[in-house]
Amino acid sequence: MAPVSDASVGRLLQRLEPRETGQALDLGCGNGAWLRSLLDRRHDLTGAGVELHAARDAPEKLTAATGGRATLVAADATTWQNGAFDAVIAVGVAHVFGGPGPTLDAVRRHLAPDGRVLLGDGVWDTPPTAAALRALDATAEEFPDLEGLVRLVREHGYEPVHGHVSTLEEWDEYEWSWTGSLTDWALEPGRDPGDREQALAAAVEHRDGWLGGYRGVLGFASLVLADARSGSSP
Ligand SMILES: C[S@@+](CC[C@H](N)C(=O)[O-])C[C@H]1O[C@@H](n2cnc3c(N)ncnc32)[C@H](O)[C@@H]1O
Repeated sequence: MAPVSDASVGRLLQRLEPRETGQALDLGCGNGAWLRSLLDRRHDLTGAGVELHAARDAPEKLTAATGGRATLVAADATTWQNGAFDAVIAVGVAHVFGGPGPTLDAVRRHLAPDGRVLLGDGVWDTPPTAAALRALDATAEEFPDLEGLVRLVREHGYEPVHGHVSTLEEWDEYEWSWTGSLTDWALEPGRDPGDREQALAAAVEHRDGWLGGYRGVLGFASLVLADARSGSSP
């Protein structure tokens, strides 16, 4: 559920470098795709994903896909707490915590000494246009640009060790998948006409907002962060 290709995901997770036999946490994990990719690459790790709107079979699926090494907890990531983790993933969830700054503070509550963070969220690729703001129902202040995000990260006591800004191709793949799968679902034979109209209208509205509004304006940055406060005296 993020505009990041498999190849970019791989490069980012490689830089996360959790310690051997460490634990990873994925906040607002959706179906746990990021956590699953990390555990696929590192068979020594275990992990937990926290998701408020988990599908009923999602916990079972994630546990099965990771050979019992990951648990999906159906809980509110803003209040959930259960120990310290060597890697914390927070992708596409800044709005849940009230912006990237509060997300960085929330992440620290879960971070083990020398732990690393993967933060992924929206940034302005170009100054926001009125059409983009309208389509996203956002204010210009809601997202930083890349430079502003890096500044914010440092102000919150982290140092970026790697980063990736999604390409237009990655965004296009994400948006076409999003609207395309909804359209496919709507047009399946036998679909209830009311459901079909509703799903098609949602796909059209989203696609119009993207193509006529924020395409090429809203970007997505994924940063791997080291905790610069780790080991320093309080
Ligand atoms: C844009 S999606 C990103 C999902 C996942 N991190 C990814 O990149 O594939 C945001 C996710 O946050 C979840 N979410 C929203 N509010 C939440 C909360 N308070 N606690 C936990 N998850 C939440 C949503 O249900 C959704 O799955």
